[in-house]
Amino acid sequence: MRIHILTLFPDMFIGPLDHSIVQRATQRGIAHIETHNIRDYATDKHRITDDYLHGGGSGMLLKPEPIFRAVEAILGQEREDGAPPSIILLTPQGRLFNQRIAEELAKKNRLILICGHYKGVDERVREHLVDDEISIGDYVLSGGELAAMVLVEAIVRLLPGALGSQDSLVDDSLTSGLLGPPQYTRPASFREWEVPSVLLSGNHALIARWRRQQTLLRTHQRRPDLLEKALLTEEERRWLQGLDRQPENILVS
Ligand code: ADE
Repeated sequence: MRIHILTLFPDMFIGPLDHSIVQRATQRGIAHIETHNIRDYATDKHRITDDYLHGGGSGMLLKPEPIFRAVEAILGQEREDGAPPSIILLTPQGRLFNQRIAEELAKKNRLILICGHYKGVDERVREHLVDDEISIGDYVLSGGELAAMVLVEAIVRLLPGALGSQDSLVDDSLTSGLLGPPQYTRPASFREWEVPSVLLSGNHALIARWRRQQTLLRTHQRRPDLLEKALLTEEERRWLQGLDRQPENILVS
């Protein structure tokens, strides 16, 4: 996958993408990530990329010309490479990012991520250039750079071959649309806090059942909204309904 990031602050990306799974994926050639400085596509003498709001108001807006020019330069370079890239603007006005969107974007060959800054971007960028707008949460960042890093991290780890043999997507929280169960490592006893005995039992069927139950319980307690869309068996739904009446009713003890 090729990911192009358009930003006024390319140096912000030095470091965060040079570690762990994203670094390994780029070293293995699974992901190619390139930053482009929007300022390099401004043509005036002072390389101006932002301007005041038409109609008045506080703050500055990114001008459309350098952004269009940058995207067109990337598209020009890559035209012969098959399907066109998805062009995504990072903005608090976009659809809310989640694991399903990460999975959807991980299937693309190429992405262009545009990081707004200041008050955002000229509306013509939204209307005539981008295919998608994504927000990473209902709060305002000074720019889209950290949001772009979040997307890159969440997407790249889903690419085939990006994870090491010890890591697995299957067990991740939210891969199944639910929160993951509690996990423990050695020692089995730490400051007299014991690992649940079922995990030491060696009984894999029982362990799988316990984990599934903890997954449901945790999601029910912390993110009941996720349960509405999750794929659950009839027995699991009934058990969850019973929990409100009898919280001590545990599937496996
Ligand atoms: N730019 C500023 N705030 C943002 C947010 N919450 N998500 C994505 N891009 C942003």
